[in-house]
Parts: sequence; structure tokens; C-alpha cells
Amino acid sequence: MPQSILIVGASRGLGLGLVAEHLKRGFDVIATVRKPADAAPLKALSGAERLTVLQADVTSDADIARLAADLPNPLDIVFINAGVSGPKSVTEATADELNAVMQTNVFGPIRLAHALAGHVREQTGILALMSSAMGSIGENQNGAMAVYRATKTAQNSFARSLWLTAAKDRGVTVLSVHPGWVKTDMGGSGADIDVETSVTGMADQLAAHAGAKVHKFVDYSGREIAW
Ligand SMILES: NC(=O)c1ccc[n+]([C@@H]2O[C@H](COP(=O)([O-])OP(=O)(O)OC[C@H]3O[C@@H](n4cnc5c(N)ncnc54)[C@H](OP(=O)(O)O)[C@@H]3O)[C@@H](O)[C@H]2O)c1
Repeated sequence: MPQSILIVGASRGLGLGLVAEHLKRGFDVIATVRKPADAAPLKALSGAERLTVLQADVTSDADIARLAADLPNPLDIVFINAGVSGPKSVTEATADELNAVMQTNVFGPIRLAHALAGHVREQTGILALMSSAMGSIGENQNGAMAVYRATKTAQNSFARSLWLTAAKDRGVTVLSVHPGWVKTDMGGSGADIDVETSVTGMADQLAAHAGAKVHKFVDYSGREIAW
């Protein structure tokens, strides 16, 4: 029986790439988009007969509840990828801009992760959240993009609590994943690696951690990142 994966935030960039890579590996894939009109690149992928597309905005409680109700049980992997870069400066941003990036990068993904934790297969399942090395306090050398950094740091902290309270007892692994600096709309054309290199590495890491029963901060190449 094929393995199953849910990828949340899959209209473009790394989410779309993760869907393509797991279809290539023979998975049954469920992908979510915010706007159904943006599903065309997903439906054009090779292997799309094994793909189901659903709608979800991670900041919507109604979408989270509907997604949790509609999903099959159990899933081998849940990967919450959605994220935005947000405002550059904490002092120049408005309170609404700061609240919006926290909702999209922190509260939305974590509330969704809690809603879906019970769907992840016991003992071997993985609940992955797209973090960033920028969320590492230990590796912060220049203070740039302080707001974005703080959202991923907070997400990592919530991910540890999620693992301890909603995953560990069922043997579910939680991964906070850094994809590398990747050429996407967010990463820009000057980034280090292309989407294919990142998603191939991340898919290898997901496979390697099945049954690990830990919470780890790891990048696409398997490097463990300092909290
Ligand atoms: N690229 C990099 O170098 C890099 C490095 C470290 C971490 N990351 C992380 O990797 C993830 C993907 O980044 P990317 O480079 O692929 O960025 P991207 O090309 O800008 O794609 C972002 C994705 O997130 C979705 N999204 C945004 N807000 C959402 C919401 N409220 N609900 C559901 N989906 C939402 C977008 O959907 P729409 O199309 O509807 O906007 C899109 O599919 C993010 O979490 C990012 O922080 C990226």
C-alpha cells in the first residue's frame, strides 16, 4: 500500500516541489492551496492521479476544522509548509502587519498541527513544520529579518511543546525543517539551491526519520541546527 502525505501550502515554491517529489516517490498525496484557482500547477504534475487537492488557509479556524474532518486516517506524513516573510523591521511595521505574520507563520501552523496530530500514523509517522535556520538563536550572526526570525523561533518552541504533549506518547516524530536557502518567490533568484535539490533532500530526511520518535531541527541535507 502506498504511503500517504499531506502538504499544506502547496500552490507554488517548496510546497509544490514537495508534492512533485512525493508523487515521484509513489506516495498518495493530499495538497492544500488557499485559492482553488491556484491548483493548476499541482494538477499538471506527473502522477497527479494520486493527488487530492483541498482548500485551506492556515489562519482560518474554520478551514482547520474542515481539513481535520475531511482527511483520511492515518497519514504517514503531515508537512505544514505555509509561510510568509512578513515585514522587515519590528519598529517600522504596523501592529496589524506583525499580527498577520505571527498568525501565518506561528499560530496558524501550530493550531493546525495540533488539530492534525491524531491523524499521523502511530510509531512511524512524521509531523513536519517548515521552519528556517533564521529561527536559530544560536546561528543568528547579523540580526537581519528579525521579525521573520522570531516567527520561526516561536514556531520551533511551539513544535517542541506539540511533540511533548500531542505526539511523543504515540511515537510520532516532529521535525522542524530548514529547506536551505532556496530559489523561490520568497528566497529570490540569488539563493543557494534550486527547489529540486531542496525537496529531494527534505524527502530523504523525512524517510530517514520515520520511527525516530524525536523532535529535531534539521536541514534538507540532514545537518542538525542549533536551537
Ligand atoms: N525559500 C527559502 O529560501 C526558505 C528558507 C527557509 C524557510 N523557508 C520556508 O519555506 C516555506 C515555503 O517557502 P517558499 O520559499 O516556497 O515561499 P513561497 O514561494 O512564497 O510560497 C509560500 C507558500 O505558502 C503559502 N501560504 C502563505 N500564506 C498561507 C496561508 N495563510 N495559508 C496557507 N498557505 C499559505 C503560499 O500560498 P499562496 O500561493 O496562496 O500565497 C505558498 O504556497 C515557508 O514557510 C518559508 O518560511 C523558505
